[in-house]
Amino acid sequence: MTATRHFLKDTDLTAAEQAEVLDLAVRMKAAPYSVQPFAADGNGRKTVAIIFDKTSTRTRVSFAAGVADMGGNALIINPGEAQIGHKESVQDTAKVLERMVSTIVWRTGAHAGLVEMAGNSRVPVINALCDDYHPCQLLADLLTIREHKGRLQGLTLTYLGDAANNMANSYLLAGVTAGMHVRIGGPEGYLPSPEIIAAAEERAAETGGSVLVTVDAAAALTGADVVATDTWVSMGQEDEKEARLQLFRSYSVDEAAMQLAAPDAVVLHCLPAYRGYEIAAAVIDGPQSVVWDEAENRLHAQKALMAWLMHMSGLAVVDGLV
Ligand code: CP
Ligand code: NVA
Repeated sequence: MTATRHFLKDTDLTAAEQAEVLDLAVRMKAAPYSVQPFAADGNGRKTVAIIFDKTSTRTRVSFAAGVADMGGNALIINPGEAQIGHKESVQDTAKVLERMVSTIVWRTGAHAGLVEMAGNSRVPVINALCDDYHPCQLLADLLTIREHKGRLQGLTLTYLGDAANNMANSYLLAGVTAGMHVRIGGPEGYLPSPEIIAAAEERAAETGGSVLVTVDAAAALTGADVVATDTWVSMGQEDEKEARLQLFRSYSVDEAAMQLAAPDAVVLHCLPAYRGYEIAAAVIDGPQSVVWDEAENRLHAQKALMAWLMHMSGLAVVDGLV
Protein backbone atom coordinates (compact mmCIF):
# COMPACT_ATOMS: atom_id res chain seq x y z
CA MET A 1 0.00 0.00 0.00
CA THR A 2 1.24 3.51 -0.85
CA ALA A 3 2.33 5.51 2.20
CA THR A 4 0.24 8.60 2.89
CA ARG A 5 2.06 11.90 2.37
CA HIS A 6 1.38 14.84 4.68
CA PHE A 7 2.59 18.47 4.61
CA LEU A 8 3.12 19.61 8.18
CA LYS A 9 6.29 21.66 7.80
CA ASP A 10 8.34 23.05 4.92
CA THR A 11 11.01 20.34 4.99
CA ASP A 12 8.40 17.60 4.55
CA LEU A 13 9.07 18.20 0.83
CA THR A 14 12.55 17.49 -0.48
CA ALA A 15 14.11 20.08 -2.78
CA ALA A 16 13.06 18.04 -5.84
CA GLU A 17 9.52 17.58 -4.50
CA GLN A 18 9.15 21.27 -3.71
CA ALA A 19 10.23 22.10 -7.28
CA GLU A 20 7.74 19.53 -8.62
CA VAL A 21 4.86 21.07 -6.65
CA LEU A 22 5.84 24.56 -7.86
CA ASP A 23 6.05 23.34 -11.48
CA LEU A 24 2.57 21.83 -11.10
CA ALA A 25 1.32 25.14 -9.65
CA VAL A 26 2.65 27.02 -12.70
CA ARG A 27 0.89 24.50 -14.96
CA MET A 28 -2.39 24.75 -13.01
CA LYS A 29 -2.26 28.55 -12.85
CA ALA A 30 -2.10 28.59 -16.67
CA ALA A 31 -4.89 25.99 -17.00
CA PRO A 32 -6.95 26.19 -13.77
CA TYR A 33 -9.31 23.26 -14.49
CA SER A 34 -6.81 20.92 -16.11
CA VAL A 35 -6.14 18.82 -13.00
CA GLN A 36 -9.14 17.14 -11.37
CA PRO A 37 -7.86 14.89 -8.58
CA PHE A 38 -11.26 14.55 -6.92
CA ALA A 39 -12.84 13.13 -10.07
CA ALA A 40 -10.07 10.52 -10.32
CA ASP A 41 -9.87 9.95 -6.58
CA GLY A 42 -9.20 6.26 -6.04
CA ASN A 43 -11.29 6.11 -2.88
CA GLY A 44 -14.13 8.04 -4.46
CA ARG A 45 -14.14 10.91 -2.00
CA LYS A 46 -14.67 14.53 -2.97
CA THR A 47 -14.72 16.33 0.38
CA VAL A 48 -11.81 18.17 1.99
CA ALA A 49 -12.23 18.99 5.70
CA ILE A 50 -10.75 22.43 6.44
CA ILE A 51 -10.62 23.09 10.18
CA PHE A 52 -9.85 26.50 11.67
CA ASP A 53 -8.88 26.97 15.31
CA LYS A 54 -7.76 30.53 14.41
CA THR A 55 -9.29 33.15 12.11
CA SER A 56 -8.42 33.44 8.39
CA THR A 57 -9.29 35.22 5.15
CA ARG A 58 -6.76 34.06 2.52
CA THR A 59 -6.32 30.48 3.70
CA ARG A 60 -10.05 29.90 3.99
CA VAL A 61 -10.92 31.37 0.59
CA SER A 62 -7.96 29.91 -1.31
CA PHE A 63 -8.55 26.37 -0.04
CA ALA A 64 -12.33 26.59 -0.65
CA ALA A 65 -11.90 28.04 -4.14
CA GLY A 66 -9.11 25.60 -4.97
CA VAL A 67 -11.14 22.55 -3.96
CA ALA A 68 -14.10 23.86 -6.01
CA ASP A 69 -11.86 24.44 -9.06
CA MET A 70 -10.79 20.80 -8.86
CA GLY A 71 -14.35 19.45 -8.63
CA GLY A 72 -14.34 18.77 -4.89
CA ASN A 73 -16.35 19.97 -1.92
CA ALA A 74 -14.74 22.15 0.78
CA LEU A 75 -16.16 21.60 4.25
CA ILE A 76 -15.09 24.62 6.31
CA ILE A 77 -15.19 24.08 10.08
CA ASN A 78 -14.86 27.40 11.91
CA PRO A 79 -13.26 27.92 15.35
CA GLY A 80 -15.30 26.25 18.06
CA GLU A 81 -17.73 24.49 15.69
CA ALA A 82 -16.38 20.93 15.95
CA GLN A 83 -15.85 18.70 18.98
CA ILE A 84 -12.05 18.73 18.47
CA GLY A 85 -10.16 20.75 21.05
CA HIS A 86 -12.76 20.60 23.79
CA LYS A 87 -14.88 17.42 23.67
CA GLU A 88 -12.84 15.05 21.49
CA SER A 89 -9.18 14.14 21.09
CA VAL A 90 -7.15 14.79 17.94
CA GLN A 91 -6.66 11.03 17.53
CA ASP A 92 -10.38 10.23 17.59
CA THR A 93 -11.10 13.14 15.24
CA ALA A 94 -8.51 11.85 12.75
CA LYS A 95 -9.92 8.32 12.87
CA VAL A 96 -13.39 9.63 12.00
CA LEU A 97 -12.35 12.14 9.31
CA GLU A 98 -10.04 9.74 7.44
CA ARG A 99 -13.07 7.54 6.70
CA MET A 100 -15.04 10.36 5.09
CA VAL A 101 -12.75 12.88 3.40
CA SER A 102 -9.92 12.99 0.85
CA THR A 103 -7.70 15.46 2.72
CA ILE A 104 -7.63 17.19 6.12
CA VAL A 105 -6.49 20.84 6.24
CA TRP A 106 -5.99 22.28 9.73
CA ARG A 107 -5.02 25.70 11.12
CA THR A 108 -4.16 25.31 14.78
CA GLY A 109 -1.71 26.30 17.55
CA ALA A 110 0.61 23.48 18.56
CA HIS A 111 2.49 21.65 15.81
CA ALA A 112 2.28 18.49 17.94
CA GLY A 113 -1.47 18.37 17.23
CA LEU A 114 -0.82 18.22 13.49
CA VAL A 115 1.71 15.43 13.99
CA GLU A 116 -0.87 13.50 16.00
CA MET A 117 -3.57 14.10 13.36
CA ALA A 118 -1.24 12.87 10.59
CA GLY A 119 -0.16 9.87 12.65
CA ASN A 120 -3.78 8.71 12.81
CA SER A 121 -4.89 9.55 9.27
CA ARG A 122 -4.64 7.54 6.05
CA VAL A 123 -5.51 10.69 4.05
CA PRO A 124 -3.12 13.64 3.67
CA VAL A 125 -3.01 16.24 6.47
CA ILE A 126 -1.98 19.79 5.50
CA ASN A 127 -0.78 22.44 7.96
CA ALA A 128 -2.74 25.62 7.21
CA LEU A 129 -0.63 27.53 9.81
CA CYS A 130 0.41 26.64 13.32
CA ASP A 131 2.45 28.50 15.94
CA ASP A 132 5.70 27.20 14.41
CA TYR A 133 5.20 27.05 10.61
CA HIS A 134 3.11 28.39 7.73
CA PRO A 135 4.32 26.09 4.92
CA CYS A 136 1.41 26.67 2.48
CA GLN A 137 2.17 30.39 2.54
CA LEU A 138 5.78 29.66 1.59
CA LEU A 139 4.76 27.64 -1.47
CA ALA A 140 2.82 30.72 -2.62
CA ASP A 141 5.75 32.99 -1.79
CA LEU A 142 8.22 30.85 -3.73
CA LEU A 143 5.86 30.72 -6.71
CA THR A 144 5.64 34.53 -6.60
CA ILE A 145 9.42 34.97 -6.42
CA ARG A 146 9.84 32.56 -9.35
CA GLU A 147 7.36 34.55 -11.41
CA HIS A 148 9.08 37.86 -10.73
CA LYS A 149 12.72 36.75 -10.69
CA GLY A 150 12.66 33.77 -13.05
CA ARG A 151 14.43 31.50 -10.56
CA LEU A 152 14.88 30.70 -6.88
CA GLN A 153 18.29 29.02 -6.65
CA GLY A 154 21.01 31.45 -5.56
CA LEU A 155 18.76 34.42 -4.73
CA THR A 156 19.11 36.22 -1.38
CA LEU A 157 15.90 36.28 0.65
CA THR A 158 15.76 38.50 3.76
CA TYR A 159 13.06 38.25 6.43
CA LEU A 160 12.99 41.05 8.99
CA GLY A 161 10.91 41.45 12.18
CA ASP A 162 9.54 38.86 14.60
CA ALA A 163 12.09 36.22 13.71
CA ALA A 164 10.78 33.64 16.19
CA ASN A 165 7.35 33.25 14.58
CA ASN A 166 5.83 30.79 12.12
CA MET A 167 6.68 32.88 9.04
CA ALA A 168 10.35 33.30 10.02
CA ASN A 169 10.72 29.53 10.49
CA SER A 170 9.01 28.76 7.21
CA TYR A 171 11.02 31.35 5.25
CA LEU A 172 14.18 29.78 6.60
CA LEU A 173 13.26 26.15 5.90
CA ALA A 174 11.45 26.59 2.58
CA GLY A 175 13.96 29.17 1.34
CA VAL A 176 17.02 26.97 1.80
CA THR A 177 15.09 24.01 0.35
CA ALA A 178 14.80 26.12 -2.82
CA GLY A 179 18.56 26.78 -2.73
CA MET A 180 18.23 30.39 -1.58
CA HIS A 181 20.54 32.36 0.70
CA VAL A 182 18.17 33.11 3.57
CA ARG A 183 18.91 35.91 6.04
CA ILE A 184 16.75 36.27 9.12
CA GLY A 185 16.98 39.55 11.10
CA GLY A 186 15.34 40.24 14.45
CA PRO A 187 16.11 41.24 18.05
CA GLU A 188 17.91 39.02 20.54
CA GLY A 189 15.48 36.53 22.07
CA TYR A 190 13.19 36.63 19.00
CA LEU A 191 15.29 34.61 16.55
CA PRO A 192 14.69 31.06 15.25
CA SER A 193 15.46 28.25 17.71
CA PRO A 194 18.75 26.31 17.47
CA GLU A 195 16.74 23.28 16.23
CA ILE A 196 15.20 25.23 13.33
CA ILE A 197 18.58 26.76 12.42
CA ALA A 198 20.22 23.30 12.47
CA ALA A 199 17.47 21.84 10.25
CA ALA A 200 17.87 24.76 7.84
CA GLU A 201 21.67 24.40 7.74
CA GLU A 202 21.35 20.68 7.03
CA ARG A 203 18.98 21.35 4.13
CA ALA A 204 21.12 24.25 2.85
CA ALA A 205 24.14 21.92 2.69
CA GLU A 206 22.17 19.72 0.26
CA THR A 207 20.87 22.51 -1.97
CA GLY A 208 23.66 25.11 -2.11
CA GLY A 209 21.63 27.60 -0.07
CA SER A 210 22.85 29.28 3.10
CA VAL A 211 21.61 30.59 6.45
CA LEU A 212 22.37 33.88 8.22
CA VAL A 213 20.58 34.69 11.48
CA THR A 214 21.45 38.12 12.85
CA VAL A 215 20.33 41.00 15.10
CA ASP A 216 21.87 43.41 12.57
CA ALA A 217 19.04 44.57 10.31
CA ALA A 218 21.40 46.30 7.86
CA ALA A 219 23.54 43.16 7.49
CA ALA A 220 20.39 41.15 6.76
CA LEU A 221 19.10 43.64 4.19
CA THR A 222 22.20 44.63 2.20
CA GLY A 223 21.87 43.49 -1.41
CA ALA A 224 18.77 41.32 -0.80
CA ASP A 225 16.81 40.20 -3.89
CA VAL A 226 13.66 39.57 -1.87
CA VAL A 227 12.60 41.35 1.34
CA ALA A 228 9.84 39.84 3.48
CA THR A 229 8.19 40.63 6.77
CA ASP A 230 5.14 39.69 8.85
CA THR A 231 3.06 41.10 11.69
CA TRP A 232 4.85 41.74 14.98
CA VAL A 233 1.76 40.46 16.84
CA SER A 234 0.75 37.00 15.69
CA MET A 235 -2.60 35.40 16.48
CA GLY A 236 -2.62 34.50 20.17
CA GLN A 237 -0.08 37.21 21.13
CA GLU A 238 -2.58 40.07 21.40
CA ASP A 239 -1.89 40.54 25.14
CA GLU A 240 1.76 41.34 24.35
CA LYS A 241 0.89 43.90 21.67
CA GLU A 242 2.25 47.10 23.28
CA ALA A 243 5.58 45.48 24.26
CA ARG A 244 5.97 43.92 20.81
CA LEU A 245 5.38 47.18 18.96
CA GLN A 246 8.38 48.62 20.86
CA LEU A 247 10.53 45.49 20.63
CA PHE A 248 10.61 45.21 16.83
CA ARG A 249 10.66 48.96 16.00
CA SER A 250 14.13 48.94 14.43
CA TYR A 251 13.23 45.97 12.18
CA SER A 252 10.59 47.72 10.09
CA VAL A 253 10.59 47.31 6.31
CA ASP A 254 10.41 51.01 5.53
CA GLU A 255 11.85 53.15 2.72
CA ALA A 256 15.25 53.43 4.46
CA ALA A 257 15.44 49.63 4.78
CA MET A 258 14.61 49.21 1.10
CA GLN A 259 17.53 51.50 0.18
CA LEU A 260 19.86 48.76 1.45
CA ALA A 261 18.28 45.96 -0.62
CA ALA A 262 19.06 45.40 -4.30
CA PRO A 263 17.46 48.12 -6.45
CA ASP A 264 15.24 45.54 -8.15
CA ALA A 265 14.28 43.72 -4.94
CA VAL A 266 10.69 42.55 -4.55
CA VAL A 267 8.76 42.80 -1.29
CA LEU A 268 6.60 40.06 0.23
CA HIS A 269 4.12 40.08 3.11
CA CYS A 270 1.77 37.18 3.81
CA LEU A 271 -0.95 39.62 5.02
CA PRO A 272 -2.78 40.82 7.03
CA ALA A 273 -0.39 43.81 7.18
CA TYR A 274 -0.12 46.62 9.70
CA ARG A 275 1.09 49.69 7.80
CA GLY A 276 3.45 51.89 9.80
CA TYR A 277 4.64 48.98 11.94
CA GLU A 278 6.33 45.99 10.28
CA ILE A 279 6.00 47.61 6.85
CA ALA A 280 5.64 51.21 5.64
CA ALA A 281 2.61 52.06 3.51
CA ALA A 282 4.97 53.47 0.85
CA VAL A 283 6.65 50.06 0.60
CA ILE A 284 3.67 47.68 0.65
CA ASP A 285 1.68 49.96 -1.68
CA GLY A 286 4.76 50.86 -3.77
CA PRO A 287 6.24 49.53 -7.02
CA GLN A 288 8.45 46.83 -5.43
CA SER A 289 5.56 45.17 -3.63
CA VAL A 290 4.23 41.88 -5.06
CA VAL A 291 1.88 41.10 -2.17
CA TRP A 292 -1.29 40.81 -4.27
CA ASP A 293 0.32 38.28 -6.60
CA GLU A 294 1.52 36.51 -3.45
CA ALA A 295 -2.03 36.38 -2.04
CA GLU A 296 -3.45 35.06 -5.34
CA ASN A 297 -0.75 32.42 -5.50
CA ARG A 298 -2.07 30.81 -2.32
CA LEU A 299 -4.83 29.46 -4.59
CA HIS A 300 -2.55 28.04 -7.28
CA ALA A 301 0.11 26.67 -4.93
CA GLN A 302 -2.39 24.92 -2.66
CA LYS A 303 -4.30 23.38 -5.57
CA ALA A 304 -1.01 21.91 -6.76
CA LEU A 305 -0.14 20.76 -3.25
CA MET A 306 -3.48 19.01 -2.72
CA ALA A 307 -3.30 17.29 -6.12
CA TRP A 308 0.34 16.29 -5.53
CA LEU A 309 -0.31 14.85 -2.06
CA MET A 310 -3.35 12.88 -3.28
CA HIS A 311 -1.33 11.53 -6.22
CA MET A 312 1.63 10.54 -4.04
CA SER A 313 -0.72 8.94 -1.49
CA GLY A 314 -2.41 6.80 -4.16
CA LEU A 315 -5.73 8.65 -3.86
CA ALA A 316 -5.69 10.24 -7.32
CA VAL A 317 -3.80 10.16 -10.59
CA VAL A 318 -2.36 13.44 -11.86
CA ASP A 319 -1.02 13.32 -15.44
CA GLY A 320 2.63 14.18 -15.65
CA LEU A 321 3.51 13.04 -12.11
CA VAL A 322 5.34 9.76 -11.59
N1 CP B 1 -1.63 34.86 4.99
C1 CP B 1 -2.63 34.19 5.59
O1 CP B 1 -2.50 33.03 5.99
O2 CP B 1 -3.78 34.90 5.71
P1 CP B 1 -5.07 34.46 6.52
O3 CP B 1 -4.71 34.45 7.99
O4 CP B 1 -6.10 35.52 6.20
O5 CP B 1 -5.49 33.09 6.08
N1 NVA C 1 2.46 35.23 11.98
C1 NVA C 1 1.06 35.46 11.66
C2 NVA C 1 0.75 34.99 10.28
C3 NVA C 1 -0.66 35.27 9.82
C4 NVA C 1 -0.97 34.73 8.45
C5 NVA C 1 0.17 34.79 12.69
O1 NVA C 1 0.46 33.64 13.06
O2 NVA C 1 -0.80 35.41 13.14
